[in-house]
Amino acid sequence: MPSTRFKTIQHIINHRRAIFPPSYTGQTIPKELLTELLDCANAAPTHKLTQPWRFVVFRERGLLRLADQLASLYKTHTSPEQFLHKKFESTRDKVLRSGAVIAIVASYSGAVPQWEEIAATACAVQNLWLAASAADIGGYWSSPGTIEHIGDFLGLAENEECLGFFYMGYHDDLPRPANRRPLVEKIRWEE
Ligand SMILES: Cc1cc2nc3c(=O)[nH]c(=O)nc-3n(C[C@H](O)[C@H](O)[C@H](O)COP(=O)(O)O)c2cc1C
Repeated sequence: MPSTRFKTIQHIINHRRAIFPPSYTGQTIPKELLTELLDCANAAPTHKLTQPWRFVVFRERGLLRLADQLASLYKTHTSPEQFLHKKFESTRDKVLRSGAVIAIVASYSGAVPQWEEIAATACAVQNLWLAASAADIGGYWSSPGTIEHIGDFLGLAENEECLGFFYMGYHDDLPRPANRRPLVEKIRWEE
């Protein structure tokens, strides 16, 4: 018989969804709450305790700077034939609609293989995402092609890499079921 604790986390995991900026309401996410959510991220597992996750949190006026930067990177790194003004505008808008946008950064220590640092950082993001969802804040992980050019803007060191952005906001989305192929296709039992 599953415990109440298990039922609670099962519910949180199964109800976490990607929630996109068009559904965000514009309500402010207090800095204290963001810190609590990031504290959950900081509890992620990590080989040799390298704790490679780093976060650059954009909120309030910081969102304006990020919006301009991402739009400008899109323009600079897209050929004139492929450039879409609509995409340029939506790149800005989705940042400006967010309560916060968090740059997800992995810091490579050299003590373990890079893939382990990336995996640990992804564990931290999942903790953040689950915690945010439980606090009624929607979010999604965005990994635009431009992230490889964002290092200077974020002030990253040589051994650091941006793995994307976590967009966040209070929202008015209705719950929806997860879209996943059946688990049975993904398990082989050896008994
Ligand atoms: C590493 C990673 C990068 C992702 N990058 C993007 C992205 O750039 N754009 C996007 O729409 N979804 C991206 N996603 C997927 C969504 O955030 C989301 O998980 C997916 O749409 C499935 O929805 P669900 O989580 O509600 O089931 C990414 C997910 C991960 C784990």
